Amino acid sequence: MSSVEPLRVLVTGSAGQIAYSLLFSIANGDVFGKSQPIILHLLDIPMMMTSLSGVKLELEDCSLPLLHNVITTDSEEVAFKDIDVAILAGSMPRREGMERKDLLAANVKIFKSQGQALDKFAKKSVRVVVVGNPANTNCYVLSKFAPSIAPENFSCLTRLDHNRAKAQVALKLNITSDKVKNVIIWGNHSSTQFPDVKHATVELSDGKKHNAYEAIKDDNWIKNEFIPVVQKRGAAILAARKLSSAMSAAKAICDHMRDWWNGTKEDEWVSMGVPSDGSYGIEKGLIYSFPVRVDKNKKWSIVQGLAIDDWSRGLMDKTCQELQEEKNDALATVSN
Ligand code: NAD
Ligand code: LMR
Repeated sequence: MSSVEPLRVLVTGSAGQIAYSLLFSIANGDVFGKSQPIILHLLDIPMMMTSLSGVKLELEDCSLPLLHNVITTDSEEVAFKDIDVAILAGSMPRREGMERKDLLAANVKIFKSQGQALDKFAKKSVRVVVVGNPANTNCYVLSKFAPSIAPENFSCLTRLDHNRAKAQVALKLNITSDKVKNVIIWGNHSSTQFPDVKHATVELSDGKKHNAYEAIKDDNWIKNEFIPVVQKRGAAILAARKLSSAMSAAKAICDHMRDWWNGTKEDEWVSMGVPSDGSYGIEKGLIYSFPVRVDKNKKWSIVQGLAIDDWSRGLMDKTCQELQEEKNDALATVSN
């Protein structure tokens, strides 16, 4: 066994479909590194315990050297005890025809209870990503009920939207998605999000970097195809699969946590839902997706100084307004 202390990684909703696509990558060292032992804490609800025990059997059968233990439980105390990382996917998923807002009432209760458990049982250094929808507002509630943990340790997943935006630009320009950098998802992980390419760069076949907006040269495509496609991609997958995205969501969770753990690349930023510090005029404390850079000490900071035109401002404010409404609804629900 390695002398490195194992990292305790909690995945909630671990009998669900995102977890099924995610757990192998974590246990295989693809997120926290190939010399970092892992203890998985897997939480689900009581009726899923048999199914979860099967997930544990499969993890054992993967025979992974970094995986030191797998704890399966329906107890929040056991699940949150001494954890270093929390990946919170456990919630009621959106069904076809439902808006994320409809999910709010059911899901904020879960995040209130898990916030209290986090506060009581987790390490104070725990890094949290909320995946369960409505992800931004669930994260807001979680942080509110875990006051002993620093607000900057909380985030929600908008990396899937970020990856979707990169992929759409790559398809449009007939390049691979690694040649697309610095797209931004502003705001809520919902259909009001603003996928922004004005500050993005692309590397074209001339081997040179270009501004993405200028390379695309098609304002109509950006406004009437690109933005709605990214905003509504979750619903399109749900309509086609009759299940919400899982493989791509798991990949995005890995990207999010890997960059948080190790730092972002020199000339790149990524999108993360983080507590606003008032940057770009967004209400302080809201969990809003911003462009962020992460340093080598796991400290993220919002990219400052980007020029925002009136049209972009309008879209950033619209998604902010939806988050303010969700926050007020959530606060009314948890106080009842
Ligand atoms: P799923 O239904 O397959 O799995 C959810 C699991 O959560 C189930 O096993 C369920 O029993 C469990 N669960 C419910 N309440 C729980 C609780 N209180 N504690 C622990 N576990 C609990 O759903 P999924 O496809 O894995 O999706 C999970 C969530 O992630 C959904 O809310 C979905 O909308 C969301 N999602 C978010 C993104 C994103 O980019 N932020 C992307 C895809 C899906
Ligand atoms: C997604 O973006 O794919 C998920 O959030 C699922 C959903 O409910 O849209």
